[in-house]
Amino acid sequence: ARTVRRDGDGALEVGGVPVTRLAAEHGTPAYVLDEDDLRARARGFVEAFDEAFADLCGGADVYYAGKAFLCTAVARWVAEEGMLLETCTGGEMAVGLRAGVDPARMALHGNNKSDAEIERALRAGLGRIVVDSSPEVDRVADVAARLGVRAPVLVRVTVGVEAHTHSYIATAHEDQKFGLPLSTGEAARAAAAVIARPELDLRGLHSHIGSQIFDVEGFEVAARRLVRLHAQVQRDHGVVLPEIDLGGGFGMAYTTQHQPLPPRELAQGMARVVAAACAAEGVDVPRVSVEPGRAVVGPSTFTLYTAGTTKDVVLDGGQTRRYVAVDGGMSDNVRTALYSADYSATLASRRSDAPPVLTRVVGKHCESGDIVVMDEFMAGDLGAGDLVAVPGTGAYCRALASQYNHVPRPPVVAVSGGVSRVLVRRETEEDLLALDLG
Ligand code: LLP
Repeated sequence: ARTVRRDGDGALEVGGVPVTRLAAEHGTPAYVLDEDDLRARARGFVEAFDEAFADLCGGADVYYAGKAFLCTAVARWVAEEGMLLETCTGGEMAVGLRAGVDPARMALHGNNKSDAEIERALRAGLGRIVVDSSPEVDRVADVAARLGVRAPVLVRVTVGVEAHTHSYIATAHEDQKFGLPLSTGEAARAAAAVIARPELDLRGLHSHIGSQIFDVEGFEVAARRLVRLHAQVQRDHGVVLPEIDLGGGFGMAYTTQHQPLPPRELAQGMARVVAAACAAEGVDVPRVSVEPGRAVVGPSTFTLYTAGTTKDVVLDGGQTRRYVAVDGGMSDNVRTALYSADYSATLASRRSDAPPVLTRVVGKHCESGDIVVMDEFMAGDLGAGDLVAVPGTGAYCRALASQYNHVPRPPVVAVSGGVSRVLVRRETEEDLLALDLG
């Protein structure tokens, strides 16, 4: 978050609110979201891509990938900053619609959409349905025929790029579940099948190569391959597709080891490649869209915990590792356990001059893999009652949260201008028990 600083007592302050006040008012653990920071990032992506593509194709469309984190307030804020909204389930779609997002500025993804989800999207008038497989071409067309509407679709292409990221979040190599492979001709055949169905309006091709990606090359290769198919469709069918979507996946800095590309550089790099590829193929530049999620919302949020039990373990080399247990854990941030993700942690409620010690921040769950931050040097006098902040938890933390061990999920609290407001309330034991019908 951009508006973080220490107040006079040395407590972290975000959006003009000290964390000590946040903890007193909202309890811990809590996700604390800096509204101004989120809005600035959203606007930053919109402006960067619009500028980079202005001369080529009249600007670009930037979808917010709601899977990173979605609630009605955030859906409204990103829409106010000029973003469109990408959803991948009926549930995410429902949040966008409830928030009052213009359905024409929403898209529905998903590798296994139900007929009910397709019908809901078409009835609501969603702007794009991204077809992910051959059978889905006919399924979307059949639902559209039944409703008497024409469905605007993109075809999701697996371009065969090995993205340098964790294998669970790489999506453009061929041996995974998403998309229609380019290399086997399946993508081209699906595009032909869409063109052949009058109930479908083929708007363009889509590629998403993966997530938490730092080098622009992967996107460039994807763009070149997608433009080649775009040109082939034009040659084979005489159809000029108006759009191309290059997906999301732009990396963010979890620790100082990550250096994400500024949106401007990313956008300009993509614009250069799309322009060159289109020139090489002799086609006009279609309108370009992208779908960042993590890079928009991730840095805007930190998780605020209260420290409890500590335990010192002497390691083989004689070094001591201190385990600091916090009042949440893998139920509010499973990314460390699931992807070996890196986070940092800091003593948030006060300044400390105590020499730092090697610390592992762990949760309260009943398993040893319940680690929030693997290795961090933290103040040696950190102990029970201190507040601990883990930054960069805006993306895929609340979204992936569970109620493991019947731990209710934390609230999302927004801060701005010295005021805090609960966007998503804390779950209670009663909420959980209400599902248990005896
Ligand atoms: N577009 C599509 C089609 C996607 O599948 C995704 C992410 C995005 C956009 C947004 O990617 P982003 O810009 O947020 O990286 N749970 C994992 C990430 C899964 C990403 C799935 N798809 C994690 O916590 O790292």
